[in-house]
Amino acid sequence: MHGDDTQREKGSSGDQIANSGIDESQPVSRIPFPVSRELHVPVLLHEALNFLRIQPEGNYIDATLGGGGHAQEILKRLGSGRLLTIDRDPKALEAAKDKLAEFSGKLMMQHGNFAQIDELHAASGLPPVDGVIADLGLSSMQLDDASRGFSFNLPGPLDMRMDPQTETTAADLVNRGSERDLADIFFELGEERHSRRIARAIVKARPYRITTELAQVVTRAIPSRAGLHQIHPATRAFMALRLAVNGELENLDEFLGRILTVVRPGGRVVVISFHSLEDRRVKQAFRRWQDEDRATVLTKKVVRPSEDEIRSNPRARSAKLRAAEKN
Ligand SMILES: C[S@@+](CC[C@H](N)C(=O)[O-])C[C@H]1O[C@@H](n2cnc3c(N)ncnc32)[C@H](O)[C@@H]1O
Repeated sequence: MHGDDTQREKGSSGDQIANSGIDESQPVSRIPFPVSRELHVPVLLHEALNFLRIQPEGNYIDATLGGGGHAQEILKRLGSGRLLTIDRDPKALEAAKDKLAEFSGKLMMQHGNFAQIDELHAASGLPPVDGVIADLGLSSMQLDDASRGFSFNLPGPLDMRMDPQTETTAADLVNRGSERDLADIFFELGEERHSRRIARAIVKARPYRITTELAQVVTRAIPSRAGLHQIHPATRAFMALRLAVNGELENLDEFLGRILTVVRPGGRVVVISFHSLEDRRVKQAFRRWQDEDRATVLTKKVVRPSEDEIRSNPRARSAKLRAAEKN
């Protein structure tokens, strides 16, 4: 089911190819995209640390290392304890290595998907841990690096993979996906009410190689009366593609299904999400744990950033934190 009930036009299938205006002879990787060096500002840092209740001798997991902001503050509080950090993005691990060099004695780093948190934990040799944090989504380094293709504002290749080993890119989806599949992605993952219209416009104008070109087509596909957007009109479509490329909701489900097996009784799980579909999954999983007497929910109400935090870091505005303690 789609929010817009626009009829499909007869014959508007994927075979209607429009010239994208891109120089096909130019390999995408050679286009000089700007790379931002802006660092990621950790979101809900004090709240996350409070819920984690770091003990100097405790062992912890940061399942989403990113810019290492949360990890750095955990490491500062550790004495004999250890922190296992994980990220799907090898570039995040590489960058954080320098930033966290002074803590190398208590820091473990693993490239991997938190969907396999139990296997990654087993490989680390750590005992069941005292706390886990997962700060979902993208880091500022990923978003601001045009060559990753996450941003509709920056011209870059339509990649969007957090892990370069992932097979499917955003270009594969928009250039080869059926109109129906694309509409489903925009509706289900982006909660986009103009999903069908956008999918039809995308199929008509493909192929695409560049983010900004796709963003223009999406923007034009949205009716102008919907023009008083509080967000860029391509926001939902780009987010949906990113979630699809990286299987983010499926990974979160796996993580939530396995995480309690690596936490000791009394240990805590803190999840920060930026998307209502993610937060719903976290809320439901925590409620299930409580119903099954496996954990106690510590956040009766979801925790949101303060006005001050949002003012100083606008990217925090949609963040939601939930915490639970294993029984
Ligand atoms: C919002 S950032 C984390 C920022 C970090 N807490 C900080 O303070 O700098 C999210 C990170 O999680 C990583 N990530 C997303 N999904 C993942 C998954 N399934 N497994 C492992 N890492 C993942 C992303 O590559 C990204 O680097």
